[in-house]
Amino acid sequence: MQEIRLFSGEMIPLERHKVRIVQKLELLPVEDRLRRLQEAHNNLYLLKNRDIFLDMLTDSGVNAMSDKQLAAMMDADDAYAGSETFFQLEEKVQDLFGMEHFLPAHQGRGCEKVLADLLIKPGDLVPMNYHFTTTRAHIVRCGGEVLELLCEGGEICTSDEPFKGNMNTTALRSLLESTQRNIPFVRMEAGANLIGGQPFSLANLQETAAICREHGVLLVLDASLLQDNLYFIKSREEACSGLSIREITRAIADCCDIIYFSARKFGFAKGGGIALRDIALANPLQELIVLNEGFLTYGGISVREMAAITVGLEESMDETIISQGPEFIRFMVDELVRLGVPVITPAGGLGCHLNAKEFVPHIAADEYPAAALASALFIAGGIRGMERGTLSEDRNADGSEKFASMELLRLAVPRRVFTLSQIKYCIDRVHWLWQNRELIQGLKFTREPKILRFFTGELAAVSDWQEKLAARFRSDFGDSL
Ligand SMILES: Cc1ncc(COP(=O)(O)O)c(C=O)c1O
Repeated sequence: MQEIRLFSGEMIPLERHKVRIVQKLELLPVEDRLRRLQEAHNNLYLLKNRDIFLDMLTDSGVNAMSDKQLAAMMDADDAYAGSETFFQLEEKVQDLFGMEHFLPAHQGRGCEKVLADLLIKPGDLVPMNYHFTTTRAHIVRCGGEVLELLCEGGEICTSDEPFKGNMNTTALRSLLESTQRNIPFVRMEAGANLIGGQPFSLANLQETAAICREHGVLLVLDASLLQDNLYFIKSREEACSGLSIREITRAIADCCDIIYFSARKFGFAKGGGIALRDIALANPLQELIVLNEGFLTYGGISVREMAAITVGLEESMDETIISQGPEFIRFMVDELVRLGVPVITPAGGLGCHLNAKEFVPHIAADEYPAAALASALFIAGGIRGMERGTLSEDRNADGSEKFASMELLRLAVPRRVFTLSQIKYCIDRVHWLWQNRELIQGLKFTREPKILRFFTGELAAVSDWQEKLAARFRSDFGDSL
């Protein structure tokens, strides 16, 4: 989906697919939105889908499937062991990555679990461009520690830097030269999720791989958000503009020893998998897959989903298809910048990210600014985003808060799901909220789980600010929803 110029001169991202199945959406009145939010204890994960108008929580497992994926699902070969559908998926992964072994897992964190169980020992250090919540949880569970070596400027919210997800290769080199700690692998994350879906460049990955090889350390790629990263390499990295998406994919894979992915994102379906070259690693991983995920020819994925992943991976090689998400996000980011709303720039993949530190600077970090903003946007528009900030961090061992360096509200744009008018509606409600930001205040926990607290924790507003926000909405919009 490249941009299209209208007769008026306006440039818009134009959907290059048509909708053939739809799901009806309800838009509840603002008073009901407020009530449902409070019944869900201000945790948007605890909302019921029927209460949400635009679900921008995540791009995980909620991307629209193509006609070809649905057709393949009908034709899937159902067997506990030896399913033909698995072999087709295996062949597709081998074809794209040039790696001999493929192990299926039920989703991305299933891959992370078995990799951590095999590779991490207490005291190990795992350098990476940036962590992801479930990745770090598994490494820490096995006694390891994560060290982020993001490139300089990667965490600067407003920037022109096209590859903010790059590894700081100088820091990586000096770490590998000097450390006494055991480093089981270096991890690179494509389209680094928690800093706004920001990509690495192929040149940076190649340099990272060369350093790893020099020091005999494995390079593991988390390819869950590879699709967006591929598009950014193609469109932003001059040296790669003449390469096809397939060639870029292979060049990336050539750098890596192990690639794992969540097919809830990469593959437009539901599942996951690990690709690798070394049989000495594949064998013990197979044992862990059988123990934790399922037999080696399904790994916890239904055969229908495996069939959909196979087609989805092939569709991910089509630039017209993979540009849809990033181009919609860029449209959102450009419009919000024009309206003065603080967002992460340049636009990344996965979603548009509001910078809560600047949106609601009056909210203290321990009252969860990004989570408060997320609850406010649900009141303003029935839109469910996801907090990516301090609330997404678990506390330090001494019980103190681990303050996130970035406080973001992520508005995910699941691939091929929303229309441009829905995106425009979202921009409008964010703009209204920006104009009324002084009304937004913080949240506090009323029930706080110890692990991954953002999923199931319960919160309350620190005052009656949410009632006041809903009242302001009613007075500004009259009878309109
Ligand atoms: C970069 C990254 N790694 C791993 C995961 C975990 O994948 P899953 O949700 O399929 O367990 C995600 C999910 O959002 C992700 O974005």
